[in-house]
Amino acid sequence: MVIANVIRQPNYINKRNGRFLLIWRDVPHWMVVDEEVVTFLRMLDGTKSFKEIITILCDTFESSYEKKYQEANNLLRILKKAGLVKNEEKKNTLAPISPVIENITINITNRCNFRCTHCFVSDSDRRKDLLDLEHFKQFLKEANDHLASNLNFAILGGEPLLQKEKTLEIARIGKEKKIEVIVSTNGSLVDDDFAKKAKKAGLVVQISMEGATSDINDSIRGNGSFIKAKRGVECLVSHRVYTILSMVVQKLNYHQINDFYNLGRNLRVNEIRFIQLKRMGRAREGDLEPVSNIELLNAINILKKNNPGAKKYLKRDYHTIMKTICSISNRRAYCGTGLKTLLIDSDGEVFPCPNHNLPEFACGNIKDKSFQEIWLKSPILNKVRNTYHIDKINSECPSCSVKYWCMGGCRGETYENTSNMRSKAVGCEDIRNTIIETFWMLSENKVFPIRSKNNRRTEFF
Ligand SMILES: C[S@@+](CC[C@H](N)C(=O)[O-])C[C@H]1O[C@@H](n2cnc3c(N)ncnc32)[C@H](O)[C@@H]1O
Ligand code: SF4
Ligand code: SF4
Repeated sequence: MVIANVIRQPNYINKRNGRFLLIWRDVPHWMVVDEEVVTFLRMLDGTKSFKEIITILCDTFESSYEKKYQEANNLLRILKKAGLVKNEEKKNTLAPISPVIENITINITNRCNFRCTHCFVSDSDRRKDLLDLEHFKQFLKEANDHLASNLNFAILGGEPLLQKEKTLEIARIGKEKKIEVIVSTNGSLVDDDFAKKAKKAGLVVQISMEGATSDINDSIRGNGSFIKAKRGVECLVSHRVYTILSMVVQKLNYHQINDFYNLGRNLRVNEIRFIQLKRMGRAREGDLEPVSNIELLNAINILKKNNPGAKKYLKRDYHTIMKTICSISNRRAYCGTGLKTLLIDSDGEVFPCPNHNLPEFACGNIKDKSFQEIWLKSPILNKVRNTYHIDKINSECPSCSVKYWCMGGCRGETYENTSNMRSKAVGCEDIRNTIIETFWMLSENKVFPIRSKNNRRTEFF
């Protein structure tokens, strides 16, 4: 008797409306299947021949032997491709650890003319000014061999447009090197001259607003901020600058998600973004109430269902990012902080990423250290890289079913709230539920984890 292939059994099974979500933690892989597939997988345990299994399936699910044989063979091919057949697992799935920078954030200034209630830039950071672009250019030159081909620059602050010329200068450097440069601004200082120059420099401008109406927006961003931001958007759009309208979602503005989308459409912006609130800086103070990740995911999902054209405008919002992460099945052991990202603060100090900017994460200053000294030798960067491996970080994450999709959540936010680099992510349970919900959403659209490279549904029995 020839025993059928032995399949790795899933670590997680969840049933919903007669369908099953299966997750293989260590492969990693996930699938949504029907009961017949689950029955088939359970029988692939090394005790039965393929013929026996087909006969049992025919008896249980009433079908001809030929049909079941064909279907089972097709499924087996998919399982093999996904690396689920024991002793035939894919070997090279661990993402490379070598640091290649994909994203550089530059805080051009930490000063700001607003004082938003949710802002993660704390007031104590405001003293730092100003980044010297000559140091930045030198740093970039030295970093050349460590930059990814899809490198991008994000200019943040503080309010970057308090330093318009420097913002535009970075955009020009980016244009010359074919690097996308995006600046986030409160919009209050946008004028025709800036818009014209931004268009010429190919700068992407994100305007941040916190609601679709002035009462909600201004209660977070300050009196008069709604009208100023709206004028800023209108000015940019009139000069055909690529413009993004962005809202950080919290309980106060959650009910305006739909209206905010419509505001963006009416203002004719290129993109609309909904971002989840990070419990950092001032967002940890006062009575500010966050919305869970799963609520945000579901709200954007409903928005997309009700507005078939919305996909074109929602390209880097929370829902789209989650769907992208969950449709990839690779072992990604790191979130990327200090490996793919770095932050240059307004005083020249380098940090592993924009969310890791507490003084204890300072890696060296570009005013007095070379790129090599910082990027290759900083003990802080090495500590971050060595600590945040999802299989080593603590005792719980390595056995979590969704670890290669979660990658430990936002480590900067977690550290700021726990003072412990090895804690589980802030909102761990919410993240896990959101990933599982995203798998279900993807299965509705019949999208598979990319590694399987198969667009057919698995429920073909
Ligand atoms: C820190 S601001 C700096 C740029 C500019 N002043 C602005 O408001 O766009 C960059 C972006 O971070 C967002 N932001 C601020 N605090 C946040 C928080 N606690 N969680 C998530 N995003 C936040 C802002 O709304 C803005 O879209
Ligand atoms: S979110 Fe932007 S505009 Fe608001 S206080 Fe922070 S830096 Fe200033
Ligand atoms: S933080 Fe939570 S959800 Fe993420 S890998 Fe760790 S245990 Fe899993």
